[in-house]
Amino acid sequence: MSEERGYVVVGERAEDQNDIEELAYEVLVGLSSRPKRLPSRFFYDDEGSRLFARIMRLEEYYPTDLEHAILTEHAAEILQCMEGRSFNLVDLGAGDGAKTMILLRHLAASGADVTYVPIDISEGAMRGLVATIREELPAIRVEGVVAEYHRGLQWLVRQRSERSNLVLFLGSNVGNFDRAQARGFLGRIWSALRVEDRVLVGFDLKKDIEALLAAYNDREGVTAAFNLNLLTRINRELGAEFDPSAFRHFGTYDVNTGAMKSYLVSLEAQDVRVGALDRSFRFDEWEAIHTEYSYKYLRSDIDSLAEDSGFVQVSRFEDQRGWFVDDLWRPRKGD
Ligand code: AVI
Repeated sequence: MSEERGYVVVGERAEDQNDIEELAYEVLVGLSSRPKRLPSRFFYDDEGSRLFARIMRLEEYYPTDLEHAILTEHAAEILQCMEGRSFNLVDLGAGDGAKTMILLRHLAASGADVTYVPIDISEGAMRGLVATIREELPAIRVEGVVAEYHRGLQWLVRQRSERSNLVLFLGSNVGNFDRAQARGFLGRIWSALRVEDRVLVGFDLKKDIEALLAAYNDREGVTAAFNLNLLTRINRELGAEFDPSAFRHFGTYDVNTGAMKSYLVSLEAQDVRVGALDRSFRFDEWEAIHTEYSYKYLRSDIDSLAEDSGFVQVSRFEDQRGWFVDDLWRPRKGD
């Protein structure tokens, strides 16, 4: 942990190399598949994180404001679950931390003994977040971890802290996993927790389809830029020759599975060379690359997911329209 920076980069340089190798592997497998696919976790380089911060401020992208309202209204009730213990507030996929600030302001005002542990894949986002906390809430200790959240979680488990943990998995980040992956990831959180720890998970609920389509196809084109930035990242990190203007963003909704799905659609027949793989990939006109799932939930889906991944629901907090949920869970351990 670097005192001066306020965060650690898990693995430092060696990790960068791993990330590039992982990206190369996913590009090879994903672009050789039919239909083509790329995983959404590679959206978040520094530019992708900046674009996502802009998405969160868009009028059409309702989840951020709704979760903000839930946390503002219920901060005291949520934090009550730690019953005055000293604890780590572990923020998985913290981003700019704007929503977590609501809880942190509350904790600072009550003089709670809390260490804020934001975990985020973008070092740029982490630098900004640590600076904001130090300026606005100097009483809060920050120990950030720059890592993809699976690795961040492993890092945390290895710390074997004596303090309790309140783990935040907000912003419907869980929605970017399919149901099996969500069970697996939450199960890993379960195995890292002790009886007195708690988890707060944000879920976007199934709702009016027009609202969903607007949220993922905004008028300004920020979501399109966010999606297309994946090609720019592959160009930079793997020496590829994608022309982003030869692709378009397309967001659609599958009512059956509850998945918003994002695609990049090739606007022409083209061959794209990827230098690091020493090969080209053929795209037919209108051929698509699937890039993201954003699953929407029924309340009953959330109940099943909690049960299947080893948790018991403590409380459910909803916004007034019933569009978004923050669910507070405890691990089923020793009962
Ligand atoms: C980070 N994640 C929860 C966002 C979502 O809604 O799936 C990412 C995003 N993709 C397009 N817009 C926002």
